Amino acid sequence: MDRDMDRDMERQRRLRIGVLASGRGSNFQAIIDRVEDGTLPVEIAVLVVNNRDAGAVQRAERHGIPWHFIDHRGRSREEFEREVIAVLDEHRVELVVLAGFMRILTPLFIDHYRHRIINIHPALLPSFPGTHGQRDALEYGVKVSGCTVHFVDTSVDGGPIIIQRCVPVLEDDTEESLARRILEEEHRALPEAIRLYAEGRLRIEGRRVRILDG
Ligand code: GRF
Repeated sequence: MDRDMDRDMERQRRLRIGVLASGRGSNFQAIIDRVEDGTLPVEIAVLVVNNRDAGAVQRAERHGIPWHFIDHRGRSREEFEREVIAVLDEHRVELVVLAGFMRILTPLFIDHYRHRIINIHPALLPSFPGTHGQRDALEYGVKVSGCTVHFVDTSVDGGPIIIQRCVPVLEDDTEESLARRILEEEHRALPEAIRLYAEGRLRIEGRRVRILDG
């Protein structure tokens, strides 16, 4: 009984995160896996998808995580975002994690969660922002690429950088093979950035994010 109460109190203290996704949800799964293996001490309060068929939904169902589908079609960006904010606030979300969320957010949303939104991008920013980071890197001919976890501000893929991880671009790479190699790093980098945030170890100083010692 006491142990149950301890566990409940421990869960109540944990940072509450809300995940926004549009697709497959492998980054969402990486977060779930780290929470379940005890290396990421946060509470996944809710998943919000803007696509009813997003693979992320099955993952939420399998792991007993509340989820909401909010349609962005046929309405203004602000109207859509107001509904997302209402759901996140209702679940007392403290950090918003964009994990393959394919909508650009307006200042309405970004100001509401100022410095409390992070995104994962499949390239080494500021190179190759936008929706085809892996393809653009390959076509440009770079020899290394990787992923970036960053705070979200009103620029597209331009907020202060928290973590970057590199991978080589190999001679016979295709967009798919490069994307797969980058994805493996994404699955490590995103939970790591969330953990640093949860531990209060990130300080934004202008464009730089200082990582404090643990
Ligand atoms: C990832 O490559 C992420 O960097 C990008 O969208 C993709 C989402 O993959 N923003 P998944 O849905 O997490 O599997």
